This record gives sequence, structure tokens and C-alpha cells, in this order.
Amino acid sequence: MMINGFNITSGGVNTAAYDNAEGIVLFLCKECLQGLGKLELPSAVAKAVEAYAAIHEDMFEIGTINTLTLPQGEGLLTVVVAGCGEGAECKPVAFRKAAGEAARALRKAKVGKAVLAAPILLNPKRGAYVEAITEGIYLGAYTFTLFKSKETKHKECEAVLLSAVAEADALVAKAAIAAEAVSYTRDLINLPGNILNPVLMADEAVKLAQTLPLEVEVLDETFMEINNMHAILAVGQGSNNPPRMVVLKYNGAGDAPYTAFVGKGITFDSGGISIKPDDNMGEMKDDMSGAGAVLGAMKAIASLKLKCNVMGVLACAENMPGGKAQRPGDVVRAANGKTIEVVSTDAEGRMVLADAVWYACHLGAKKVIDIATLTGAVIIALGKETSGIVANDDKVVEEIKLAGKYAGENYWQLPSLPECKEAIKSDVADLLNSAGRAGGCITGGLFIGEFVDAGIPWAHIDIGGTSTAEKTAGCKVKGGTGFGTLTLIKLAEML
Ligand code: BES
Ligand code: MN
Ligand code: ZN
Repeated sequence: MMINGFNITSGGVNTAAYDNAEGIVLFLCKECLQGLGKLELPSAVAKAVEAYAAIHEDMFEIGTINTLTLPQGEGLLTVVVAGCGEGAECKPVAFRKAAGEAARALRKAKVGKAVLAAPILLNPKRGAYVEAITEGIYLGAYTFTLFKSKETKHKECEAVLLSAVAEADALVAKAAIAAEAVSYTRDLINLPGNILNPVLMADEAVKLAQTLPLEVEVLDETFMEINNMHAILAVGQGSNNPPRMVVLKYNGAGDAPYTAFVGKGITFDSGGISIKPDDNMGEMKDDMSGAGAVLGAMKAIASLKLKCNVMGVLACAENMPGGKAQRPGDVVRAANGKTIEVVSTDAEGRMVLADAVWYACHLGAKKVIDIATLTGAVIIALGKETSGIVANDDKVVEEIKLAGKYAGENYWQLPSLPECKEAIKSDVADLLNSAGRAGGCITGGLFIGEFVDAGIPWAHIDIGGTSTAEKTAGCKVKGGTGFGTLTLIKLAEML
């Protein structure tokens, strides 16, 4: 399957693949270099890499690329050496990053036929590395060119991955589906607000359900009124684009309980009447990244026919300051009956999620995980590489962190002390939608937890810092990262 200009197939240990390759990628950590001989490379290649390594000590740094060009017959052979660290760094996450860089190096060198090789893949137990390299190549090759009138045509690349892993075929196929899903999520994030509005998000979900084993339900304003969802309605009322709540259900495990993945789907966040400053406001087209991750994950889960029961709930609205917009000071009642004093109309994500996590519980979810570009505060606390978690149950947090390890996505749990809940108590209503700057990521998360049914394990993931990348590096490409998509897929695999 061609994804982002690459098609990776599993080639077992058949080194005949070297014979007609225009390019070879070697994934090497410092210690892996000792195993170079076992790869049975053409002798000129092995010699060149060894000679090169002897004078370039820094070539093993994770994601470092060195491209050697050797004569081959009448033409050239491109050898891409991708650094995978040293010692304990030699983990799948390093290979995923290195593969992202390698994909772009292959493209730059116009390689149409490549072999992907690594000494570590000669160990039959290293399936996780097969997955990481496959995902990394596809994701590093991602581009978003929809609005380019003159598209630069890249040469497509057929790549054979050599490994002694018995189930490599299945792993390569699985990684392709996962990477395709992440690319899909990235596309949605990168679409501007004038194209992707809440109705279009719902249409995307409906489209997925037409070809995959997914059941879809779209709630419009009328249905939201019937269900008393005045929190999401309040957020949506300032925009000409109406809000939508979308549910995708995947049944792969009979009558086992459902886990709900709930995503913030603000297709554009102007801040509303509490309008944002104009510098980089356009970045707020990414405020549906949580819903995008849920959509992408549901696509992959259904394609892979995983043995689990999952529902994806998308809370979609556009936050605009139109004449009907909600005002600071307004009080609204959410679907679970709690009243909210709107301190800031810019704290809209927690309001749409309030009704969405309630709806997930209402539909019978026995575990709830929400994912949202909820706060700028999470960037201050954790930076651009780590997502924050606020939860009522440490077991769910551990599951997310473990899935994140497999996905190469980083998480950090923030404390949710009962004292922190004091900050979101209102004088005139049950809750305040904003408690100001102090612990903004924590209070934002705790607010959402107030709308989850009692006794239901719940965790909130804040991807405010991780949903977009400022520069292309590793398997991330500048723009939407699709952060969380892979974690949710791996979580579903673990259910
Ligand atoms: N979508 C934003 C959060 C955000 C801002 C993420 C910048 C990434 C970069 C969210 O809706 C928001 O505006 N949050 C406010 C909350 C505050 C009003 C309590 C924030 O973080 O400033
Ligand atoms: Mn906002
Ligand atoms: Zn927002």
C-alpha cells in the first residue's frame, strides 16, 4: 500500500533484495555497528560504512543521517546511514525517529527502490523495531500539499524491510494502517477553519462508517437540546457553523464493556467574546486535534478489526464571537445537570467535553479517556514533547503511559489533589469554567472530570503542546503531528 510516497514490504532475510536496490538504509546504533557483517551487504557498501564510521564518531546520534553515494554499475547506489543512539538508547523510539529522517533522505536522493536493514532486525524477537521503522518511514514522508497549485512530484519508493522476525509481514501491514491513520489525523489538523467545520467533521465520521465496521450517530443542535447539552450549545452559538456531537462505535469483542475515546473538536478557536490576541491566532485551526486523533484511531481500530469494544465521541464546535455568542458571566446547565459560570469564553474546550464525556457515560462507557488541546498552560508546564494527564484513576494513567511507550509518545501525570477542585467552585453556579493561570492544566482537567459518571475510571490527556510541531524532525513534520492517534490505537490493542 502506497502511503506518503512509500510502499514498504517485508522481505524476510532474503539479501537478494540488495541486488536491484538504488538505495540502502542502515539503521545503526553504536553497538549495532559490530553486527554489520551479519547483514551480508555488498562488500563495497560494508567497507564504505566501516571506513566512514572510523572517522565520524557522531554518526550514531539519534536521527543523524549520513548519506554515502557509491558507484554501482552505470549508476549510483545511495547508502543512508541512520543513527539510532548508543547503549540504552537503542530502543524502538530511536528507530522510529531515525526512520522518519531516512525517509526524507531517500526522497532527496530520488531513490525508487530501497532496502531497509538493521543488525537488530536479525534478532527474531525484535518485532517492535519492525513496527517502529515502518511507522517512522511512512510518517517522516508525510507532506500536506492540498492547497499547492503546483505540486512538486516526488519519486515514489518501493522499500523492502529485511528482518528475521517471523511475524514481520503482519507487523509491517499493521504499522502501515496505523501510519495511514496518523497521516489522516494530520490532514484534518492541517485543514483550515474555512474548510473543516463541525459539520464536515461529522461528514468525515459518516464516510468512515460507510466502508469500515463502525456504527455512526451524529447529534445536531435539535438533538443536543433534547439531551440538555447546553454547554456545547453555548460554545457553538456564536458561530454560523453549527456544532455537532459525533459517536462512532466499534464492536469487536461481543458484549464486553465499551471504552470511550472522547476528543475536543473545536474546528477554530477565536476565543469567542474573550477573544484571543491576533498573533498566531491562525494556529487555532488545530484545536480539533483531539477529535482528529480519535477519528484516526477509530479508523485504524476498525481496519485492524481489533478485539475490543471502543466508542469514539467527537465534541465539535466553532468558537466564534458572533452576535449570538455566549458572554463572560453567563451561566449554563450541562447535560449532567451541573451549572457552569462562564468566566472566559476562551475556556470552551472543557465545556464541549463536559457534555461529551457525559454522553459517553450515558451510552454505557465503562472507561473514559478524553484528549484535547485544552490549555496553553500545559506547554508552560511540560513543553512541546510531552502531553499532560489528569485522572481519577491511576490504572488508566499507567495504561496510557504504557501505550505511549509503544507509540513513541510521551506522557506525564499531573497531581489532581482534592484541594485543586476548590479553585473551580463558583459563587453563583456549581462550577467555574476557568480558574485562571495557577495550575491551569490541572484545573482544566478536573473540570471535565466533574461530568464523568461517579465510579467510572477516567483520564484526560492535554495535547496543547504536542498537537503541532514547529519544525520537521524525526517522524514529525511541521504542522499537525497527530499526537495521541498511535497511543489510542495501541491502547485499543491492549484492551
Ligand atoms: N485551545 C486553547 C488552548 C491552547 C492555546 C492550546 C494555545 C495550544 C496553544 C484553549 O481553548 C484555551 O484557549 N485555553 C485557555 C484556557 C484559559 C482561558 C483558562 C488558555 O490556555 O489560555
Ligand atoms: Mn480557547
Ligand atoms: Zn480551544
